[in-house]
Amino acid sequence: MARNTGRVLGVNGNMVNVEFDGAIAKNEVGYIHLGDIRLKGEVIRINGNIAALQIFEMTGGIVVGDEVEFTGEMLSVELGPGLLTQIYDGLQNPLPELARQCGFFLQRGVYLQALPNVDWEFTPTVSKGDIVKAGDTIGTVPEGLFTHQIMVPFDLVGSFTVTSIKQAGTYKTRDIICTVEDSKKKKLELSMVFSWPVKKAIRLYSERLRPVEPMMTKIRIIDTLLPVAKGGTFCTPGPFGAGKTVLQHMTSRNAEVDIVIIAACGERAGEVVEILKEFPELIDPKTGRSLMERTIIICNTSSMPVASREASVYTAVTIAEYYRQMGLDILLLADSTSRWAQAMREMSGRLEEIPGEEAFPAYLESRIAEFYERAGIVKLSDGRTGSVTIGGTVSPAGGNFEEPVTQATLKVVGAFHGLSRERSDARKYPAIDPLTSWSKYPGIIKQSEVNQMRRVLHGSHEVNQMMKVVGEEGTSINDYVTYQMGELLDSCYLQQNSFDPIDTSVPPERQKHVFAKLHRLMNTPLTFETKSDVRRVFNNLRQLLLDWNNTRWGSDEFKAAEAALDEAFKALG
Ligand SMILES: Nc1ncnc2c1ncn2[C@@H]1O[C@H](COP(=O)(O)OP(=O)(O)OP(=O)(O)O)[C@@H](O)[C@H]1O
Ligand SMILES: [Mg+2]
Repeated sequence: MARNTGRVLGVNGNMVNVEFDGAIAKNEVGYIHLGDIRLKGEVIRINGNIAALQIFEMTGGIVVGDEVEFTGEMLSVELGPGLLTQIYDGLQNPLPELARQCGFFLQRGVYLQALPNVDWEFTPTVSKGDIVKAGDTIGTVPEGLFTHQIMVPFDLVGSFTVTSIKQAGTYKTRDIICTVEDSKKKKLELSMVFSWPVKKAIRLYSERLRPVEPMMTKIRIIDTLLPVAKGGTFCTPGPFGAGKTVLQHMTSRNAEVDIVIIAACGERAGEVVEILKEFPELIDPKTGRSLMERTIIICNTSSMPVASREASVYTAVTIAEYYRQMGLDILLLADSTSRWAQAMREMSGRLEEIPGEEAFPAYLESRIAEFYERAGIVKLSDGRTGSVTIGGTVSPAGGNFEEPVTQATLKVVGAFHGLSRERSDARKYPAIDPLTSWSKYPGIIKQSEVNQMRRVLHGSHEVNQMMKVVGEEGTSINDYVTYQMGELLDSCYLQQNSFDPIDTSVPPERQKHVFAKLHRLMNTPLTFETKSDVRRVFNNLRQLLLDWNNTRWGSDEFKAAEAALDEAFKALG
């Protein structure tokens, strides 16, 4: 097929107008020829015979009349074994490999194969004559901790007959392992890899289920008070430096899922370098092996062109959906979606579209909704389930949650973990505000008991506000007890030290056990003579609880600390 071509008409930042011949489609990939190098771009608008091509590279040097070649293919990612452990940019270029080939300074126009052509131990699961369709498994290969299913490419329409399949053995990623033919006897050759357009959700499942099963993060304030469900969505808005990134990293290490995909879009380069250095050294608490074995990182720093930043969240979610088709649970963490929205705003400006609120494009809300809607727990055609859970941070300027990105996100997510400046300034980590945050998902603790905890926290907050005006002397003993109770729950349960090896991850059984103790305390009638008695008793309880938090679950120290706490409870009556 002859490829369509075009010529550059004008350049505006990374937006290039191209006059083209023939027919091209929106989201089609085109390359601008600049001497020996080719710069990749995506068609984002077509007007008559003029296409707006957003270029994923610096556009310096492009001049009017430069030749453009359209590929006829949508912006896509490669799917197949070998994705795990990779570190990609937004266009799925493997960054370490890119660095090896280009040295310190990445060159323009270098696009590498996303998946290395390496050996895999293939075991077929179909035989000659079998009928298959898109998404069906034709064989498996072991990929690290998982059995990676080799599937019929998702874009094939209709039924196919297997005409040949390789026997068990070692084959390379791109070797032909299977041939199929359609009803018109047209033959197709399949390898372990195929591509899929990033902006299109993968919908090869029989049913979407309601996300109700909690996804453990081992973070108490989340699992107990603000739970996230497998296949659900949550957002973490917070002012600059409030701890969004630290919280996401804590979640990525501890979450009870099979695979974690981190989309770091538009963060500062230094922070991304930290991820790249830190992650390969982390040990997976679940397997005792390198955390990278079940992680994929997609990263774009704020110094990379905005367009590839925009692509990175789509690349990440497409890879997540691919692994979901294998019956796995995937957690996708995007940091920060505000930078992604800013990329949208910048491109919309270049397209001279009519701006909406705060100059974001009018379609901001629908883009954000479309992204989060790609999360979900699904029943696959063979009856297994798989899930994609999506969590995104939002970094609104000045921590003002009334701005468009936070508001659009709040409309679509199932849980809101809002970080507060007040809490992070007081170094109360994680700085999630328990009073304003919410979750629509069921958690591990009875709702009525969680509600009671919320009431205590609200009451305590009110007394605290009042005390700022009338002072401690003007507060009744009962109110003072409420205040101290809320502070105790906060400091010993809601706050969690991410740098303590034990406290950093608290399994659900332990959360239930400790919560039951606190629930008992909340329901113990307490009478005190003086406020200094109240203070003394609560200070003692706080110390006992904090000590308990630092013991290993189920150990002798744990039991001893619990016994000491029970003694103190007994003394209360
Ligand atoms: N759970 C925590 N325990 C201890 N310290 C923390 C915790 N969370 C955050 N911090 C401190 O706060 C600093 C800033 O955190 P972080 O980088 O996660 O903020 P952020 O909200 O992602 O900021 P930005 O808006 O700049 O992206 C950290 O370097 C760390 O010192
Ligand atoms: Mg951050």
